Amino acid sequence: MSTKSFVQATMQLPCSVTILTAQADNIQGAMTASSMYVSQVPPLLAISVSKTFATYHLIEKSKEFAINLIADSQQDLAGKFGSIHGYEIDKFKEFGVKTETANMIRAPLILGCFANIECRVQTSLWDVEGNHAIYIAEVVGFRMNDKLSPMVWLNNKYFRVGSECKL
Ligand SMILES: Cc1cc2nc3c(=O)[nH]c(=O)nc-3n(C[C@H](O)[C@H](O)[C@H](O)COP(=O)(O)O)c2cc1C
Repeated sequence: MSTKSFVQATMQLPCSVTILTAQADNIQGAMTASSMYVSQVPPLLAISVSKTFATYHLIEKSKEFAINLIADSQQDLAGKFGSIHGYEIDKFKEFGVKTETANMIRAPLILGCFANIECRVQTSLWDVEGNHAIYIAEVVGFRMNDKLSPMVWLNNKYFRVGSECKL
């Protein structure tokens, strides 16, 4: 198998564009990530997070996180939260991002998103090949603004889905 064509092929898998937020010991963090739907009943989603990242440690401690499904007007946030590590800076302050309190978990919710999904970790897979942990989490809270539209990450680019995605 050619590694180059494998990477090219995987880049054609459309991914969601979300910002994961987490909080532990009064420290908040956030990173850009794709999130995957697992099942409706029970309501489960999956994420894959590098064990080298600051947000990983917050999720490990709290066993909770929020998936903030960004709106297409927030594309710049995906780049910002996905390009710098939160070990030394508070990304929320640095980027002037406003949050609100979640109903069921301690992680902050980012305002202005298409949807905010509150999750509690149900299953953690740490021994995945490479340096990622995979979390399967139960949805314990949910809010959505159906006047907004989400985005898609494909071939290293962001795509707007606009009215194609209206519910
Ligand atoms: C579009 C996009 C998608 C990303 N998806 C993931 C992902 O699914 N898992 C992951 O570990 N990192 C992903 N990243 C990289 C992290 O967001 C990035 O390394 C971030 O700076 C980590 O921040 P932290 O150290 O504060 O947690 C993605 C970045 C971008 C721009």
